[in-house]
Amino acid sequence: MRTTGQDDPEAVLRIAGRFRIGDRATAAVELRAGHINDSYVVSTVNGNRFLLQRINGYVFPNPARVMANIVRITRHLERKLGAGSGRRRLTLVPAANGEMWFETTAQDRRADWWRMYELIENTTTVLRASTPEQVFLVAQAFGRFETQFVDLPPPPLHETIPGFHDTPNRIETLDRALSAAAASPAGNHRRRRAIAEIRSIAAHRELAGRLSAGTAHQLPRRIVHNDCKISNILFDRATGEALCVVDLDTTMPGLAAHDFGDMVRSMSHRAEEDARDTTGARVDPELFAALAQGYLDGASSLTEAERRSLVDGALVLTLEQAVRFLTDHLDGDVYFRVERPDQNLDRCRVQLALLESLLARDTDLRGIVGGPTTT
Ligand SMILES: Nc1ncnc2c1ncn2[C@@H]1O[C@H](COP(=O)(O)OP(=O)(O)O)[C@@H](O)[C@H]1O
Ligand SMILES: [Mg+2]
Repeated sequence: MRTTGQDDPEAVLRIAGRFRIGDRATAAVELRAGHINDSYVVSTVNGNRFLLQRINGYVFPNPARVMANIVRITRHLERKLGAGSGRRRLTLVPAANGEMWFETTAQDRRADWWRMYELIENTTTVLRASTPEQVFLVAQAFGRFETQFVDLPPPPLHETIPGFHDTPNRIETLDRALSAAAASPAGNHRRRRAIAEIRSIAAHRELAGRLSAGTAHQLPRRIVHNDCKISNILFDRATGEALCVVDLDTTMPGLAAHDFGDMVRSMSHRAEEDARDTTGARVDPELFAALAQGYLDGASSLTEAERRSLVDGALVLTLEQAVRFLTDHLDGDVYFRVERPDQNLDRCRVQLALLESLLARDTDLRGIVGGPTTT
């Protein structure tokens, strides 16, 4: 459940004090850029700043696994990028007890896992990509991020959300949400407003298996970010460079087509994610081309089979996101943060409109991504 706004600043400062921040925390200001965790910028007497985050326990029921992954990811990048790379990677701040997180208990009002990063100063966060140049930089940064983990020593990272891109299973979850909604007046009310979307998803449900059946054995599982939004890149304020990839909660084994598809669904068009009018929700070939070029440049270790899977990734991920938004709408908006009624339904509509346009341009898009065309 969303809990934003319930923290009193004193409590946040007390939690900040449980980390090794060197001096006294004097201010904690909530940051509203993220959708999942609750984030606070903490400042200290001497002017040092940190990012304190409460891990969303609803989304991540096993925070120990999330933190075990993040410790390995951040250490790997530290070793790989070397001295002077501090602005290009996240750095965890240990808690006083030596762990890389701090656990509050019910005695502290509620049980939560908290973690702290050094704040990377003089950066900007962009909420929505608007130019091909930006899209290129973001796709290149996430492509590079994947490349950086080709030599992550075993064992594999934990799956922090099991079945995250198991699209057929996401559809089964939607089916269950539909049945559950039919059993209550409030659920029925939400279901009736989504009749057209329910039908549209039913018409496209066979797409869900594109990455899991047949081709799956050719596609290597690699470390992917799994939340490739422009708001998860810090841009250098001075140079505009895509400096650092953040938000590592879902970084885990997956398919390159997942990250590529995720970027297509969020950055290849000009519609707001929750636009009430879906006319802008269609793929813009110029944005798509910038995205493909940036990604292929950064993800330099892609195999030919992976390259051929990228457009399928776009179709599958766009459908999957429509399914997830619709499921959350039916469930009563428990997962994605909403500010108004029907926001998740509007988000679903945008994805479905985009899906139609991707299908209409399928051949062109495969040409842009290049490589031999699939049958
Ligand atoms: N180390 C950092 N330094 C500066 N800003 C950061 C840092 N980490 C995250 N941010 C900012 O905080 C926002 C939210 O953090 P993020 O980890 O993405 O949380 P969420 O999972 O809620 O999206 C990011 O979009 C970015 O603007
Ligand atoms: Mg984020």
